Amino acid sequence: MDAQQARISMHNGNRLKLGLFGANCSNGRAMTTAPERWMADWESCERLVELADAVGVDFMLPIGRWRGYQGATDHQGTTFETITWACGLLARSKRITCFATVHAPLFNPVLAAKEFVTADQIGRGRFGLNIVIAWNDSEFKMFGIEQQKEHEARYEYGQEWIDAIKRMWGPEEEFDFIGKHMQLRGLRLKPKPYGGARPVIMNAGTSPTGRAYAYKNTDAYFTATRFASMEAAAEAVVNVKAESRVYGREIGVYTVGEIVCRPTRKEAEDFFHYWTEDTADWGAADYMLALKGVKRADDPAAYDKRRRDLIHGQSGFPMIGTPDDVADYLERISTAGFSGIGFSFMNYLTELPYLAQEVLPRLHRKGLRESAGAV
Ligand SMILES: Cc1cc2nc3c(=O)[nH]c(=O)nc-3n(C[C@H](O)[C@H](O)[C@H](O)COP(=O)(O)O)c2cc1C
Repeated sequence: MDAQQARISMHNGNRLKLGLFGANCSNGRAMTTAPERWMADWESCERLVELADAVGVDFMLPIGRWRGYQGATDHQGTTFETITWACGLLARSKRITCFATVHAPLFNPVLAAKEFVTADQIGRGRFGLNIVIAWNDSEFKMFGIEQQKEHEARYEYGQEWIDAIKRMWGPEEEFDFIGKHMQLRGLRLKPKPYGGARPVIMNAGTSPTGRAYAYKNTDAYFTATRFASMEAAAEAVVNVKAESRVYGREIGVYTVGEIVCRPTRKEAEDFFHYWTEDTADWGAADYMLALKGVKRADDPAAYDKRRRDLIHGQSGFPMIGTPDDVADYLERISTAGFSGIGFSFMNYLTELPYLAQEVLPRLHRKGLRESAGAV
């Protein structure tokens, strides 16, 4: 395996990569007021990465978030900036890949390229980049940027942004980068990324332009679709792979989800009910839907369903059950063609040990993971 391939495979042969998604944000992806919810304080993040590293979790994927979603908990209102968060985690770990989730329009490309290299050197080649081109207007206003450009122009900018960064990461000593959206002169970048390969790159654009961007520029495409069936998911993976081949690229397809795992199905369902119903933060779900312009009056049934989905993670696959249930579900995700999944828990630190103890050995026995996971 060459150095770039080793990075793309996150330095291991796990057939199904497992990552923790959203742990840099208070509440993670769980819209709940339950007092034992995830607070994302640094102490907990540090303990989490040490545990995840020890049990063989493959990656940490943060959410790029600047403002919370209000409600009783100000959902995702307390967050760490993701490049500096990744630096801290990389310094505390040995094996795991840590991503930053970076809004391209908010980070000057020269500054960004330098920060990514710094993180990559700290992690000795374990830094990963998740690019977000633009999404949330109210976040951009915080930076004094009105929704700067039309959707298509944003992706044009994003193309120049990653082209400039990749060139800075490359062997050139000094060059000018003259694009339509940026004119950068006398560019130099030393040191280069660790070990002669660039960081693994991912993107989760959903529009046709966003998807094309991912196919052209990244190693991993994330989809957050809540598929109607595993067959539909498998079909989507085939389509993404076929579409990326049009650009001459072989790209890994990843999904997202949330896990509640307990010795019995009833215990798992009861706990899921507790934080998604009894202690749900409905105000945060309503605020998020309002931001997206979704109104209950337009279609009450569709609104209520979407609102309920938002409570437990917004998208992807909910996996609620026994260790056998969760392991079987993850096996089906792998069989559907996904390279990996970034999942969340209601509280990452209290829930991960049981997954490591019971589910990871099952995945090892199924041939999906190299190691059995226990500490
Ligand atoms: C799995 C996943 C993770 C994402 N993470 C973030 C994030 O952390 N911050 C953010 O602002 N947008 C995030 N997004 C939004 C996407 O990057 C993208 O902007 C959005 O899907 C709209 O797609 P489009 O730009 O093609 O219209 C995420 C989307 C998905 C599917």
